[in-house]
Amino acid sequence: MAEQLWQRIDNEPKDRTYQRVIQYLDALLTGENDLIAKMANISAVIKEAFQWHWVGYYRVVGKELVLGPFQGPVACMRIGFGKGVCGKCWENQQTIIVPDVNQFPGHIACSPFSKSEIVVPLIIKGRFEGLLDIDSERYDSFDTIDQIYLEKIHQLYFNAS
Ligand code: SME
Repeated sequence: MAEQLWQRIDNEPKDRTYQRVIQYLDALLTGENDLIAKMANISAVIKEAFQWHWVGYYRVVGKELVLGPFQGPVACMRIGFGKGVCGKCWENQQTIIVPDVNQFPGHIACSPFSKSEIVVPLIIKGRFEGLLDIDSERYDSFDTIDQIYLEKIHQLYFNAS
């Protein structure tokens, strides 16, 4: 695969990569208002930028979270309220950073390669619509820089709160 402009350069500070990701998303998503199309391309850009194991969305459909657009290996298709990291994010309506998935009670292991995880809610007009889930093959991959930029991406492209 040819290198993309927004891909992370070796040892580049994460916030620089996120700034380039946002520049690219600005051009890509301007004028688009379809939720699923935006989820699909946001997942693709983040996956290519950081090469994380799995990047994707779950959407609230009825009483469950249902798998949405994603990049990476196959994943669980339905997650209940309060179940796993994703269900907890739905319950708490807040970003959750998990440095070691083995230490998170009830973590749902979709892939044996996932070691750490971040889950960011997508709340539009006060309504919890779904979440962005990112899994890494390394422990402790995510911190408040990821939280700040991923929440900002939701604010910028979904008018999320
Ligand atoms: N690990 C998540 C499930 C989703 S997959 O990681 C893609 C959880 O515990 O909710």
